[in-house]
Amino acid sequence: SPTRSVPVLRGVPVLGNALRLSGDVPTEFLVETAEAHPEGVYQLEVLGRHPLFVYDPDLVAEVCDETRFYKSVGPPLAIVRDFAGDGLFTVPGNEPVWGQAHRILMPAFGQRSMKAYFPQMLEVAQDLIASWTRRQGADLPVSDDMTRLTLDTIALTGFGYRFDSFSSPELHPFLQAMGNALTEAMVRARQPQVVTRMRAKREDAYRADIRAMQELVDDVVRRRRAGDRDGAGTDLLGLMLDATDPRTGERLPDENIRDQVLTFLIAGHETTSGLLSFALYNLLRNPHVLARAYAEVDRLLPDGAPPTYETIMKLDVIPRVLDETLRLWSPIPGIILKPFADTEIGDGYRVRKGQQIFLLLPVLQRHPKAWDRPDEFDIDRWLPERRAGHHPAGYKPFGNGERACIGRQFALTEARLALAMVLQRFAISDPHAYRMRIKQTLTLKPDGFTVRVRERRPHE
Ligand code: HEM
Repeated sequence: SPTRSVPVLRGVPVLGNALRLSGDVPTEFLVETAEAHPEGVYQLEVLGRHPLFVYDPDLVAEVCDETRFYKSVGPPLAIVRDFAGDGLFTVPGNEPVWGQAHRILMPAFGQRSMKAYFPQMLEVAQDLIASWTRRQGADLPVSDDMTRLTLDTIALTGFGYRFDSFSSPELHPFLQAMGNALTEAMVRARQPQVVTRMRAKREDAYRADIRAMQELVDDVVRRRRAGDRDGAGTDLLGLMLDATDPRTGERLPDENIRDQVLTFLIAGHETTSGLLSFALYNLLRNPHVLARAYAEVDRLLPDGAPPTYETIMKLDVIPRVLDETLRLWSPIPGIILKPFADTEIGDGYRVRKGQQIFLLLPVLQRHPKAWDRPDEFDIDRWLPERRAGHHPAGYKPFGNGERACIGRQFALTEARLALAMVLQRFAISDPHAYRMRIKQTLTLKPDGFTVRVRERRPHE
């Protein structure tokens, strides 16, 4: 077939479309542009680069072929690398330390490990329940409290470190520093480097935020090395300090351990917090599904006793609520790939070697080629018999291939448990009839979403 050029949205000279991407929620501009391009692919000019945006499921299936395309650490990930360094998330896959860390850490994310982490996951979920019990009748800031839950969970299970976030009305200073640094990384990804270099004050603030995060990480590692052996050997930090790569026999270098701890603290909580917040939003919007979720917890957790790991693994409705939430409201708006060589996708769309391809998840995961009634929240899409009929590339909330999310089971186990315990204990309501408004840092979350709770009466 003849080659075709991808539709291009030209912008103003030099900046291209950078200004249109510089709003608070750049993803919204990308999604609107997709709606105007039914071809399933378009190209933007941004600061002299020409990234492609792809969301047609058949084109996405091609781009997910790991023999032709690889994960690219370009902007904004290249900037996140200022602080996440050579951690798993931001290191290019062709650097040996990616494979080494991947092999050392994989066992810590298998199903057996989830069982080992369960007591700590439960402990933090109980902190959430206790906090909401004390605040019945008040407007509860959902995203903030879910962030407390997920940050405390990764820190306690991964590193034996306690943030005790529910004991303070302020978010932990680590979160403040991280939020600032991620926001700044997004700004920098969309502005010319000369502008970044001119803004000396912001540079100072950015470096101070990075130092604040690194100091906390150094404290986490120092405590463990000083003989705090809680969880040592089996948790993430224990593995990183003691285990050797089965292939090379080498241990991870100290500076890499620091990068990994910071990476897990960031990657390990933002997205799961978004998932839980969007899940509560969906349940409140869909009372018939909420009723099914209540019925499930009443059947499996009837007596108010804390759940066991085995019970959490028997849940069926709640996991499907999470699957469907990740389809409609993916906390990560996209992943970025590049072709190894000049190539074509689809019906002759040319892509050059090294050109960035952004898989636009919010559009892909509501694409009518992949999904019936795509905007409907329908958890029964995830029944085994219907799952089998899904488009193979229509759902990528955890990324693709060997660079897909290592923490998937961790996130889903933690989220099942938290949601089950919230529903077991509380009737939830949304008296302000929240309307979705997205807040974007590196990830997406509902902005300003609050709920109220009160303890359920028997048989309610
Ligand atoms: C990678 C999503 C939870 C750790 C990724 C990627 C996605 C993703 C899309 C691929 C990024 C890319 O291609 O650039 C999610 C979602 C989560 C979640 C939606 C929750 C619902 C977690 C948790 C952890 C974690 C709980 C750790 C405990 C990581 C790491 C990577 C990663 C380390 C990089 C893996 C590699 O490249 O080797 N995640 N994630 N994530 N995630 Fe997650």
